[in-house]
Amino acid sequence: MLKERIEKALNDQVNAEVFSAYLYLSMSASFSEMNFSGFAQWMKVQASEEMVHAMKIYDFIIERGGRVTLTQIDSPETVWESPLAAFEAAYKHEQYVTGRINDLVDIAIEEKDHASNIFLQWFVTEQVEEEASADEIVQKLKLVGTQGNAIFMLDRELGARAFTLPAAS
Ligand code: FEO
Repeated sequence: MLKERIEKALNDQVNAEVFSAYLYLSMSASFSEMNFSGFAQWMKVQASEEMVHAMKIYDFIIERGGRVTLTQIDSPETVWESPLAAFEAAYKHEQYVTGRINDLVDIAIEEKDHASNIFLQWFVTEQVEEEASADEIVQKLKLVGTQGNAIFMLDRELGARAFTLPAAS
């Protein structure tokens, strides 16, 4: 059985993960508008991954006998002035999510909920990857600057990303 405090914190994280999906889908739409189909594809895959994160927590709440409560999702921004601005925003958002996951782990430890603590370790590891992949693209975009050819190449490279279900935790 889940303690109320943990149940509330996990439900809040379901909302945060769905918001992440919404944010990245909004970035994808913005890239499509800018005719960067590769960046758009990368963000669309990222949005799908965020829904996987949300559903992992959703399933865990139910498995533990808790109650899933879905709440309103905030509207994401809709316009970014450049690919660099969007990926910088994505990197910043992942840092924010990492902070949230760390806070969740702290709550699980305080409440002596070992099962939740172990469950959340998957997310701790995942956040290292999430931050690293966004930061890598930010660094590449900074490197290429305004060189049209290089941005086009990077757009093509990121367009190769395909959605795969992450390994079971
Ligand atoms: Fe669900 Fe990008 O972290």
